[in-house]
Amino acid sequence: MATHPILVIGATGTVGGELVKQLVEAGRSVRILARNPAKAARFGRAADVVWGDLARPKTLDPAFAGVERVFILCPPVPELETLEANAFAAAKNARVGHIVNLSNFGAGSFESTIWKWHGASENRLRASGMAWTILRPTRFMSNTPYTWDSIRENGTLIEATGDSKMTLIDPRDIAAVAVRVLTSPGHEGKVYELTASEALSGAEIAQKIAAATGRPVRFVDAPPEIARASLLKSGFPELAADMVLQYFATVREGRWYLTPTAAEILGRPPRSFDQWLRDHAAAFA
Ligand SMILES: NC(=O)c1ccc[n+]([C@@H]2O[C@H](COP(=O)([O-])OP(=O)(O)OC[C@H]3O[C@@H](n4cnc5c(N)ncnc54)[C@H](OP(=O)(O)O)[C@@H]3O)[C@@H](O)[C@H]2O)c1
Repeated sequence: MATHPILVIGATGTVGGELVKQLVEAGRSVRILARNPAKAARFGRAADVVWGDLARPKTLDPAFAGVERVFILCPPVPELETLEANAFAAAKNARVGHIVNLSNFGAGSFESTIWKWHGASENRLRASGMAWTILRPTRFMSNTPYTWDSIRENGTLIEATGDSKMTLIDPRDIAAVAVRVLTSPGHEGKVYELTASEALSGAEIAQKIAAATGRPVRFVDAPPEIARASLLKSGFPELAADMVLQYFATVREGRWYLTPTAAEILGRPPRSFDQWLRDHAAAFA
C-alpha cells in the first residue's frame, strides 16, 4: 500500500467527493485541497484537508508536498486552463509522480467553449514532462436532465436534441475508474473516454424518468432558443445555458458514441441510467 497520500482536488464537488469516499473505502491515505475547508468537513478524519485555492498559486505548495499521485479537476469556467495550469505547476514543483486529470469527452475536437478549454489544458499537461492519465467522461447522469423544473411543473423534458442518441455515465463510475488509475500501474500516457453501455434519445430518457417517478414525462424536442429559455428560467447563468446549447448541437450532429473503456477498466458493466434513477429516487420525490 502506498504510504504517500493521494491528493484530490475538487473533493467538495460531484466526482471528487465520490472519489474521496471510494479511496477511503479502499484504505488509501487521502489528502484534499479545499479553498473552503468547512465544505470538506463531511469527510471527518478520513481525509487530511489542506487549504489552498487554484486561483492563487502561492497557496498550493502545502497540499502538494509529499504527494505521489494527484487527481485534478476544475469546474467548467473560462479560467479552467489557468486554474489547471497552476495545479500542474505545483505538482511539478513537488515532483508528483502521476497526474490524473478529469477532462471531457470531445476535448480538443469539439469546437466550442468547454471542449476548447479542456483541449488546451490537456495539451499543457502532455507537454509538462510529467506522467499523466486523462479521463474524458461523457454527460454525467447527475446532469440528466439538466433541470427537473419542467418535469415537475408539467411533465416535460425540454432538450434540443431531436431524436439523436446521447451517452451518459454515472459519476460513481468515473470515480471508480479514477481509483483504478490512481492505485494500479499501466495507465500512464492513456486517454480514457468513459461512457456507460447504452445510448439514449431524449424520448427514451423521458420514458425512463417516467418509469422511475411513476409520472408521465413527455420529451419536447424544443428549438434551441426555447430550450435556452427553459434553462434560464431554472436559474442557469447565461454562460452555462449557452454551453448546454452547444452540447445539444453536438448531440444533433451525432458526435457522441459508446466506448467499452469504463467496463474494461472496472471489470464489470458501468451502472445504467435506470440504476442511477433507482438509487436517487428519494431526491426526485
Ligand atoms: N457535468 C457533466 O456532465 C460533465 C461531463 C463531462 C465532463 N465534465 C467535467 O467535469 C468537471 C467538473 O466536475 P464536477 O461536476 O465533479 O465538479 P463540481 O461538482 O462543479 O465541483 C468543482 C470542484 O472544484 C472546486 N474548485 C472550484 N474552483 C476552485 C479553486 N479555485 N481552487 C480549488 N478548488 C476549486 C470546487 O470547490 P468549492 O466547493 O470550493 O466550489 C469543487 O470541489 C468539469 O471540468 C467538466 O468539464 C462534466
